[in-house]
Amino acid sequence: MQFHQNFNLSHLNTFGIQSAAEYFAAFNNIDELNKQLNQLPKEPLMILGGGSNILITQAIQGTVLQNKIMGIDIIEETENDVIVRVGAGEVWHDFVMWAVNNNYGGVENLSLIPGSVGAGPMQNIGAYGVEIKDVLLNVEAFHIQNREVHTFSNEACEFGYRESIFKRYLKGAYVIAYVSFRLSKSPELNLEYGAIREVLNERNINNPSIKDVSDAVIHIRQSKLPDPKIIGNAGSFFKNPAVTKEHFEELQKRYPNIPAYPLNENHVKVPAGWLIEQAGWKGKDFGSYGVHDKQALVLVNRGGASGQEIFDLSTQIMEDIHQKFGIALEREVNVV
Ligand code: EPU
Repeated sequence: MQFHQNFNLSHLNTFGIQSAAEYFAAFNNIDELNKQLNQLPKEPLMILGGGSNILITQAIQGTVLQNKIMGIDIIEETENDVIVRVGAGEVWHDFVMWAVNNNYGGVENLSLIPGSVGAGPMQNIGAYGVEIKDVLLNVEAFHIQNREVHTFSNEACEFGYRESIFKRYLKGAYVIAYVSFRLSKSPELNLEYGAIREVLNERNINNPSIKDVSDAVIHIRQSKLPDPKIIGNAGSFFKNPAVTKEHFEELQKRYPNIPAYPLNENHVKVPAGWLIEQAGWKGKDFGSYGVHDKQALVLVNRGGASGQEIFDLSTQIMEDIHQKFGIALEREVNVV
């Protein structure tokens, strides 16, 4: 078994942070993973997917194993839909493009989300009115201690806003190996997110196809979010915080234009990007790092920043938002 030593991780995290793993190997299937676990040169163990949701603040001690389980297979087909089983190591956007090109609907609003398929259920990725939980059938995950594969139904994943059982009390216990989706041959397109309709209207598209929606989403994302290949980032750095209705009404008196989305009976979700912009952080430039100028929810590494610098910036933003709005922001990104 070939473990690389002192392995450079800078191309394996979308923030582009310079860092190294003490030991590193990639696995292409569960068998290989099993063998690597048997011969693990050093603990702790860290499983890496697409590296699109992590901020590395130090050299990684122990062993990093990268999930490269590939494959997109239709395992069942009916008149109306298909069930597709996808290897967790597939690039999420490649899977979305496969679905769009085959005219299977359900994931088109999730076009261009960085990361791997396996990372999707971990934090219930979502965008433009759709979350992975809306199309996910089940997750096959490998239990690291027992060395058994367990299948989690959609319900068993306990999905919430950017949350799942894998992120909470099963954290670190499982390696997601395959994710199965139910995609539709005649989907109801979700165009509710304002900007999608706007883009379709601009393009004079009245009766959009799955591909038209995907193209619109790609256009919107590209206009707001930095391309990690060019500017290091991990998408939204913070979650949109839940705020009680009383607190929100109080804030509304001070900020009549404060936006919010319904969440549950007692809470609304306030866009963290709005709070951060109001607090004056949008576009802040600290040389090698800063806050993106088109979407304040995104912190960027313009090249050469350390993870610690970006972490410290996020702490400063959190303290400032707490002071100004009485709201505790939470990081969406995993800090390691
Ligand atoms: N806003 C500002 N200033 C900003 C950014 C946002 O005022 O700099 C306000 C605007 O009022 C805007 C509202 O926030 O209408 C919402 O902004 P946006 O549509 O960009 O969405 P978001 O709530 O900031 C969430 C997801 C994104 C996802 C978009 C689109 C989270 C943490 N983020 O962002 O997901 O793409 O909605 O659906 O829920 C990601 O998770 O990495 C990610 C990019």
